[in-house]
Amino acid sequence: MSFCINRIAVVGLGLIGCSWVKGLRQRGCVKQISGYDRNLDSMQLAQQQGIIDSYSDDIQQVVRDADLVVVSVPILAVDEVLRTIAPAIAAHAVLTDVGSVKGSVAASVAEIFGADFNRFVLGHPIAGSERSGVTAADADLYVNHKVIITPQRHTSHQALALVRNAWCAVGADVEYMAVEHHDEVLAATSHLPHLLAYSLVDTLANSHENKEIFNYAAGGFRDFTRIAASSPVMWRDIFSANKDQILKTLDLFQHDLKFLRQAIEEDDTTQVMGVLTRAKAARDHFSKILARRAYVEPMKATSITYRAQAGKALTGSFRVPGDKSISHRSIMLGSLANGTTEVTGFLEGEDALATLQAFRDMGVVIEGPHRGRVTIHGVGLHGLQAPPNALYVGNSGTTIRLLSGLMAGQAFDVEMSGDESLSKRPMGRVADPLRAMGAVVETAENGRPPLVIKGGSPLKGIHYDLPMASAQVKSCVLLAGLYADGETTVTEPAPTRDHTERMLKGFGYPVQVNGATVSLKSGGELTATSIDVPADISSAAFFMVAASIMPGSDITLEHVGINPTRIGVINILKAMGGNLEVLNEREVGGEPVADIRIRSAQLKGIHIPEDQVPLAIDEFPALFIAAACAEGETILTGAEELRVKESDRIQAMVDGLVTLGVDAKGTDDGAVIQGFGSEGSFGGGEIVTHHDHRIAMSFAVASLRGGDEPVMILDCANVATSFPNFVELANGAGMNLTVEEA
Ligand code: S3P
Repeated sequence: MSFCINRIAVVGLGLIGCSWVKGLRQRGCVKQISGYDRNLDSMQLAQQQGIIDSYSDDIQQVVRDADLVVVSVPILAVDEVLRTIAPAIAAHAVLTDVGSVKGSVAASVAEIFGADFNRFVLGHPIAGSERSGVTAADADLYVNHKVIITPQRHTSHQALALVRNAWCAVGADVEYMAVEHHDEVLAATSHLPHLLAYSLVDTLANSHENKEIFNYAAGGFRDFTRIAASSPVMWRDIFSANKDQILKTLDLFQHDLKFLRQAIEEDDTTQVMGVLTRAKAARDHFSKILARRAYVEPMKATSITYRAQAGKALTGSFRVPGDKSISHRSIMLGSLANGTTEVTGFLEGEDALATLQAFRDMGVVIEGPHRGRVTIHGVGLHGLQAPPNALYVGNSGTTIRLLSGLMAGQAFDVEMSGDESLSKRPMGRVADPLRAMGAVVETAENGRPPLVIKGGSPLKGIHYDLPMASAQVKSCVLLAGLYADGETTVTEPAPTRDHTERMLKGFGYPVQVNGATVSLKSGGELTATSIDVPADISSAAFFMVAASIMPGSDITLEHVGINPTRIGVINILKAMGGNLEVLNEREVGGEPVADIRIRSAQLKGIHIPEDQVPLAIDEFPALFIAAACAEGETILTGAEELRVKESDRIQAMVDGLVTLGVDAKGTDDGAVIQGFGSEGSFGGGEIVTHHDHRIAMSFAVASLRGGDEPVMILDCANVATSFPNFVELANGAGMNLTVEEA
């Protein structure tokens, strides 16, 4: 390691300072270490253990020749230490500290060394242990732990680099933050929890039943109060050094606690459930959470690769997860209804969960999901509240587009943002009609997210001729129509999924459908109902293709939604010679459902009828795999919408097929694929999915007919947006997928 400091002085020989220099020494990054502590014992022990080379009870002596001075004393002692060492430090020496509060240290530095002093780097390692002192020093304490450095405008770059390198050398992940922000965040995430733990233990210990409490206090008490065993001196110092920020978060907490107390007192179980369900969701998403933001962008998504190898004939009878489109709409309409809506079969995928979280953020109490069961305590069409922050909708186009319509009718402003893929998708298609209705909608460049929708603009009903066959745009306009003056009418160029219309009717809201035109008037209300979400035909499609292409297969997919606007995949596979039987047709909650039996068959290439394209819009990635296994040529036209899905699906599929040795070409509005027929198979190779769930699952299906070389499918984490248990179901049925996580 080329990085090496000549002389370090450590003032305060506790766990934090000693672990740092011990780690530096062990990695050969320091030549000489001198130490000072108020206790002679600690100095002697540190020297005996080889953590420091020398010590003195004269603190100035210890820091005199040091290149780096580490001040690691309790926060309120920092000021006095700095005053004492100031006259003795070398002209080039860099100083740093490790305190949990940065504002008070910054103030002391400015007062003692001058406001422009540029060689003090404020730092805070987020690491520790319940053990303390020299003997607990651990050279690996900081490996993979965060260290927050709070540089100031005048901090010198060299000083900053030295301290940063010294932390990185012991394995820490260094992050930068502004001083005030650090103190605000730490007040909420660390200081308040400690304060509450101390206070609760003190209250209970003083109560006359304390013996009982301590005898029987197992899980809850122990978990909640573990941190009350920390050092009182350290925490007294922190509470006073970060007083303002701590009082601010404490006030907020007291306000919310009072609200919860009142809800319990008044037997308002809905409000109590509201607090508990929001908190549970927040705790479950804990790594993605900051203070009062309930659902924020994942910090670092793990990268998931599927190693997919040739599989065997598919067998069995099973149910794929709930319909994504219907799951989204169940949350939206359930939230806006009067009364309590019960949903079963809800898709617990990230997209539908993003919708659920958005409504929680707008004050709706939603219980679950638990095994597909969700209970929504509707607030009525005018009961939503402003969310505390921008709504983060992840990968979900349906969430952002349908919500845009609803948000246009609210009294408050809302910002909506999404992940990298969503941020590239066109939103002008919803912004245009909403603006025509009188909404104020701001988009980023080229009509992309984030979207800001201003509240309080009166909407008027319009007649809108959809420029493209899009159920999302149709639904957006209709949902805005719930709040618009007069009648709102949408005419579509080709039939698209009609779940919004069906579900509005299910909630008792009058909707007129006349051929390609749908209309509704504002002024009605939604009445809570029960919704049984059928299995998603878009997820079932992967298994329809898989069983069709894999000789000897015979599977039954249970309880699949076969809404006529969604069954293009069945029609197309049948036209290609597929052996699919629709059994046991029935209707649940306004949506037709059936079991679908699929047996393998030799498919043949066709020119896909254009009228089937909108009815199979999400299933083309899977159908491209079917086409590759067919005898002869398959031609797709009229499908330019595929270029603006979670990825450019024409390009992504053609590229992947070519990688696996298939003769495929993209066109502006579709593709031409030469099938390899019964004797052929896919080669191996690496598939770029562009983080698109359906591209990933399609190539997993292709691998069934692979050769010796595996198909490595990159970036599959987003499969969880629509099909969280895909790998388990696929392997259970006969595929051969291994998940590799990085
Ligand atoms: C959806 C509509 C379709 C579809 C999407 C879900 C919906 O998009 O591709 O996965 O739930 O309304 P478009 O309406 O943009 O075609």
